[in-house]
Amino acid sequence: MSPTDRGGRDISHDIGRAKAAVSLTDVSMAFGGKTVLASVTLDIAPGSVVALLGANGAGKSTLIKILSGVHTDHGGEVRVAGEPAALHSPLAARQLGIQTVHQRIGEGIVPGLSVAENLVFEELAQARGNPFLNGGRLLARAREIQAGLGLDWSDSVLRKDVTELGLSDRQLLILARALATRPRLLILDEPTSALSAAEAERLFALVERMRDDGIAVLYVSHRLGEIDALADRLVVLRDGRLTEDQSKPFDWDSALRAMLAQAQEATTARPVREGAEGDVALSLRGVRLFDGRAPLDLDLRTGEVTGVVGLLGAGKTELARGLFGAEPFATGSAELDGRPYEPKRPSDAIRAGVHLVPEDRHADALVPGWSLARNISLPFLKSLSRMGLMNTAKEDALGRDTIAALGVVARDEHSTVEELSGGNQQKVVVGRWLAETPRVLILDEPFRGVDIGARRDIGRRARSLAAEGAAVLVLSADVDEVLEIADRVVVLAAGEIHLDAYGEDAERDRVIQTISASV
Ligand SMILES: Nc1ncnc2c1ncn2[C@@H]1O[C@H](COP(=O)(O)OP(=O)(O)OP(=O)(O)O)[C@@H](O)[C@H]1O
Ligand SMILES: [Mg+2]
Repeated sequence: MSPTDRGGRDISHDIGRAKAAVSLTDVSMAFGGKTVLASVTLDIAPGSVVALLGANGAGKSTLIKILSGVHTDHGGEVRVAGEPAALHSPLAARQLGIQTVHQRIGEGIVPGLSVAENLVFEELAQARGNPFLNGGRLLARAREIQAGLGLDWSDSVLRKDVTELGLSDRQLLILARALATRPRLLILDEPTSALSAAEAERLFALVERMRDDGIAVLYVSHRLGEIDALADRLVVLRDGRLTEDQSKPFDWDSALRAMLAQAQEATTARPVREGAEGDVALSLRGVRLFDGRAPLDLDLRTGEVTGVVGLLGAGKTELARGLFGAEPFATGSAELDGRPYEPKRPSDAIRAGVHLVPEDRHADALVPGWSLARNISLPFLKSLSRMGLMNTAKEDALGRDTIAALGVVARDEHSTVEELSGGNQQKVVVGRWLAETPRVLILDEPFRGVDIGARRDIGRRARSLAAEGAAVLVLSADVDEVLEIADRVVVLAAGEIHLDAYGEDAERDRVIQTISASV
């Protein structure tokens, strides 16, 4: 029998809600008259991992920003441990035990402070002027935090300026700091997009430990494998509404349908090319990616998608930047269509028809304040302008085409990039290079942060550019992403090639074995 209150009303639901770490009731949010979240009601139980899924622009980060006190002008109610909560600032949210690792890496990192100071930041802020946490004590506390989380950071790392840390270590730092406060709710917005496989494993182990300690976790990711392994429950947001709520074992067909409106298979058929076919567009001979490593030879062929897979530090970005003239190779030689190719800077590469979609897309790829259309046409400004005058009609048309081709969620081509969700910003940066058929197209981690629908769209577009005569090179740390798009798979480790194979010779197991044998 269900529990009732004195008036005989069924209160089992209320009891469930009172036990929730955090509960949202009818939460809504609009930007400039556009509804972004509509009537979201959700309980998050302590000791559980809830995965939040949704296409790019569905409202995931907006929901998270409400819970973390960033957006305060929302409708509806948020309760923390059963009590109405006033999340009127990020500090207020943290004091109520809600810790968030935001989508943009580096948010919350304080440059100029050491790694240790960044780790104990919160305690430092509260102890303001109090000598308690100075010098040796600060270092001791930082040591304690990192050891508790198994980060293996030596004192010399802890003393470094935080800006000397790589992207993935910064991400781990933010996570460690969030966990050091023993939160009630831990929110992770795409935490693995900058991590290598091994680092992601470490993060998963941490999340599992937190869950077992009774912490509630809200987890946003576009990687289904990750969610399947980690989450106890999944909810789907589509156009600002919760459309699906499942507990394990998950029904992925149904989840994908709820997410993307149309049915999508969880996996796609691989391209079937059994060997080299097209003409060689670009060839490298004797190029050394790292000092002291063997030189490599590589031919990129017309009509072919070559996938280079390797862990963080394998040399993928060095290869891409060298080909693009951003950091010319120190040794060896390159030919493009049989003629010497020696780009000294990216503009040389672009002129020769070699295009690169860079890995770090937030930092230098988008111009804030500019419209989508202008940002998309940025690499082609020269060809779109005549004697310094922009052909805005062409620019707008290019913007509209890209928005349509990759399903960018935006008001129109005149929206500024700041108005876009994280994944939609990524689509813009990738999309602008897909507008023209280059001779050689290099995509460095093109799928980071984009949803499954967009991943398919980008893959299809890259394949059709190959069919139109481009040689396409895709670099990724994710074996499955590479297998989904590439005709040919190259395994790179420490700057050297360990496998270069087509079709059945590039079977998933073989690729994974080669990677693990090479570390
Ligand atoms: N500051 C803003 N001004 C105007 N519109 C915004 C703003 N922030 C977000 N939006 C809009 O709100 C919608 C939801 O964005 P949100 O960032 O929550 O999406 P998301 O689900 O996190 O997507 P992604 O997977 O790409 O990170 C999008 O249409 C976005 O354009
Ligand atoms: Mg987001």
